[in-house]
Amino acid sequence: MPLPSSVLVVGSGGREHALVRSLLGSPAQPRVICAPGNAGIAQDVPCFPVAVDHIAGLIALAQQEKVEFVVVGPEVPLALGLVDELIKIGLPAYGPKADGARLEASKVFTKEILLKYQIPTAAAGFFRAVAPALAYLRTRPIPIVIKADGLAAGKGVVVAATLAEAEAAVRDLLGGKFGASSSQILIEDCLFGEETSQLVVVSGRDYVMLPTAQDHKRIGDGDTGPNTGGMGAYSPAEVVTPELFARIEREIVRPSVNAIADEGIDFRGTLFIGLMLTPTGPSVIEYNARFGDPETQVVLPRLATDLLALLWAAARGELGGVKLAVKPDYALCVVIAAQGYPESFPKGDVITFPAPASLPPATFIYHAGTAKNSAGQVVTNGGRVLGATALAPTLAEAAARAYAACDAVQCSSKYFRRDIGARQLNRR
Ligand code: AMP
Ligand code: GLY
Repeated sequence: MPLPSSVLVVGSGGREHALVRSLLGSPAQPRVICAPGNAGIAQDVPCFPVAVDHIAGLIALAQQEKVEFVVVGPEVPLALGLVDELIKIGLPAYGPKADGARLEASKVFTKEILLKYQIPTAAAGFFRAVAPALAYLRTRPIPIVIKADGLAAGKGVVVAATLAEAEAAVRDLLGGKFGASSSQILIEDCLFGEETSQLVVVSGRDYVMLPTAQDHKRIGDGDTGPNTGGMGAYSPAEVVTPELFARIEREIVRPSVNAIADEGIDFRGTLFIGLMLTPTGPSVIEYNARFGDPETQVVLPRLATDLLALLWAAARGELGGVKLAVKPDYALCVVIAAQGYPESFPKGDVITFPAPASLPPATFIYHAGTAKNSAGQVVTNGGRVLGATALAPTLAEAAARAYAACDAVQCSSKYFRRDIGARQLNRR
């Protein structure tokens, strides 16, 4: 089957901007369109104002634009069954069907699979009522982790440092903080170590592990303050040595892919495995059923393999034997957020960009939460606004380039962490 000549990318974040750019770089030169996209994606490809949760609208768009392939970025359309509907009309899509998306949409479902197949993960209890949850808490060590079962935009997890905090989180979540998403909770033992994100392109029992990456989840420098969707990332994550990479494949990736297939799920998309590198070995924190954001922004620019060919092979069940080629360069992405994120933040602040020619080499600014105002200016339109990303022969140089881009962007509500990559840079 030849590669598709046209692709619809669904989503509007920095991840989707990176997907669009990489697909545009394919030797097959596909026509790429995006829905709904953002102000930056719209500078690269045609964007259509269809929301990611409007499944019928996305199907209609794909048909109207006669695309031959759909690549789905975020979890919401996956969980709503967008890929199931696309398959029904015979349109190949990259991303799991709703059954596979449940691995992200339900933490209880995932934990049950991890425990059933004895894949390393923290011990946990599941609760729908406050009293037994509080009783269980008293039997476990503190700190302890309380999680809403369902999707909560990355905000459904509390790592509680005291019993009082844990009890409050239990009452909060079971009290309906996230509606049906938190009608069931997990109480999970706390894992200690460094976190890393392993993205795996999966097609049934076949898989390709993407390069290692590390995200920075907390809002503040030195990993302080509340959790966010991710404030920056770099790749490769050298904490994952070649030996550890092989161990992660042996103990986590292969058993996970097989477990999912054994459960009867024909998963064709990205399995994002959130790992804690504990003193006794890697342990699964979570699965996501999609590319990570901002991990994608540092992983894709390092691929020497054609992304279109890779995703197309996975979608069509032809991934067996595919080998990945990776550039030796380091990539680093600094997320520029709106001051106040992840709580409340302004929208509509005008952003001024440096002239592309004034940016350091191999440096690009991916757009995330941006839009155009009625005057045609690019303005902030979300918590995570931009992702300044650079490739370079060393991580230090990649950081210098990305930060030069951050400093050159003007926006009154601009906020970014100053220490993306510092952990690896300081380890040297
Ligand atoms: P999740 O949504 O499950 O990825 O959790 C969000 C974040 O909470 C993770 O990236 C970790 O930083 C933290 N976290 C989740 N589960 C645990 C755990 N069992 N032990 C320590 N930290 C955790
Ligand atoms: N960067 C973490 C995520 O995409 O969930």
